[in-house]
Amino acid sequence: MSKSYYLTTPIYYVNDKPHIGHAYTTLACDALARFKRLDGYDVMFLTGTDEHGQKVQKSAEDKGIDPKSFTDEVSQNFRDLTKTLGFTNDDFIRTTEDRHYAACQKLWQTLIDNGDIYLGSYAGWYAVRDEAFYAESEIKDGKAPSGAPVEWVEEPSYFFRLSAYQDKLLAHYENNPDFVAPKSRLNEVRSFVAGGLMDLSVSRASFSWGVPVPGDDAHVMYVWLDALTNYMTAAGYGQEGGEDQYAHRWPADLHMVGKDILRFHAVYWPAFLMAANLPLPKRVFAHGWWTNEGQKISKSLGNVIDPVEVANTYGLDQMRYFLLREVPFGNDGDFSRTAMMHRMNGDLANDLGNLSQRVLSMIFKNCEGVMPKCPAAHEDADLGLLNPLDNLLEGQRKHYDNQQFHEALKDIWDIVSAANRYVDDMAPWALRKTDLDRMADVLWTLAETLRQVAILIQPVMPEASANMLNQLGVAEDARGFEHLGADHRLEGGWAIEKPTPVFPRYVEEEGA
Ligand code: MSP
Repeated sequence: MSKSYYLTTPIYYVNDKPHIGHAYTTLACDALARFKRLDGYDVMFLTGTDEHGQKVQKSAEDKGIDPKSFTDEVSQNFRDLTKTLGFTNDDFIRTTEDRHYAACQKLWQTLIDNGDIYLGSYAGWYAVRDEAFYAESEIKDGKAPSGAPVEWVEEPSYFFRLSAYQDKLLAHYENNPDFVAPKSRLNEVRSFVAGGLMDLSVSRASFSWGVPVPGDDAHVMYVWLDALTNYMTAAGYGQEGGEDQYAHRWPADLHMVGKDILRFHAVYWPAFLMAANLPLPKRVFAHGWWTNEGQKISKSLGNVIDPVEVANTYGLDQMRYFLLREVPFGNDGDFSRTAMMHRMNGDLANDLGNLSQRVLSMIFKNCEGVMPKCPAAHEDADLGLLNPLDNLLEGQRKHYDNQQFHEALKDIWDIVSAANRYVDDMAPWALRKTDLDRMADVLWTLAETLRQVAILIQPVMPEASANMLNQLGVAEDARGFEHLGADHRLEGGWAIEKPTPVFPRYVEEEGA
């Protein structure tokens, strides 16, 4: 069996319509999942919905429907979005599924058996919006540090002995410096833990929309303990007959999360797993947040960005490219129409789109519509383009393993720029009159560059790259990364169709 790569998105709260923030997290994972598949891994890519807790229960009440019918409906919206945006998740988990109850209850029982959960009572602040408990010292002007309103909660509660894991967590960060990325986020997590950890309330007794605590029906599990467990549920944990899958998939290679939910993934989750003697995920990456034309995105401001609307306006691949190229992955970013058009018309239509159209048109017109054959030898100028191209994959692997998608794209676009300079320097239109053989070799070199570029951009722009590869005449089974490099050249010798542009220019409508 090939090597497993298991990656996850957060599971989304179903109190809301999916927006660009949700699409962003899933998109980053989708690009990474596609990359790993093309690179020969046996990938499992998981997403889903987080359906319990007070916030969801309240949204259902506000709508006057029972929480189960409410979650069925909204969860379906998220599932539909994965299809509309062409995400390639291998599973979609809902925390209201039986398989998930089984996993949560098994984990709970293990924590009880190991003496890390005890019954007590909670009196303190709770923010329903964050589904999080906050210490008195964190509350300012009646608000949580996230800005969420808090309420005072007093109820019997089970506690997890988080305080016992401070040193173990610090040691884990120390020994596994890649466990949390980017580095600045690891530092935040480390200083939070170093500041001291209090035991964590892990059950609620004042409402019932959750996974029942085994042996005590008066409590449901704290929604974050329930939610985090989804990553193991989908890997077979606690499932009858799930042992082989669990052994193959767990621990996860990557949990991708937004910066707002890092603490849950980099502190609580590893502590739960340590307490249960289970392996920890290998890495947690916290990405930044998008603003809309400089403003924080919020329902109350009415500036929520609908990813489907963006994809319909600019194109799905264009949106994917923009989101992954515009902002160094990990930083916050601003979504503006001007920036979107700039990328779309600059990098895509001008740089890569024109290159592809020019090269294929010259082949179509000047080589009688037949793709030139791979030359027996290459001139220095050709090698100046081919050598860095042949060596791109190693760097791409490094960038994808570091979740630096913008760097990966930047490296590819360096080649695209080099290819554009090469066309101008070689002037194949002039060679047409002086040296037809050389013209064919130059056009082949460019077509070979387009082939490898198109193979490498498949994770980010699956449709446009397929279009390019179809026009070049590259067979569908010759598009994996094993076909990159000098050993698998574009053979040529086949007829091509009249080329059509791959990336349209965006022209703003009057008055838009
Ligand atoms: N249900 C929890 C996660 C549980 S995981 C075990 C949750 N859900 S959420 O729906 O509120 O958020 C999901 C993700 O969307 C988070 O990673 C969050 O960072 C991301 N985003 C929400 N708004 C965002 C932006 N404006 N920009 C980028 N990502 C944002 O938290």
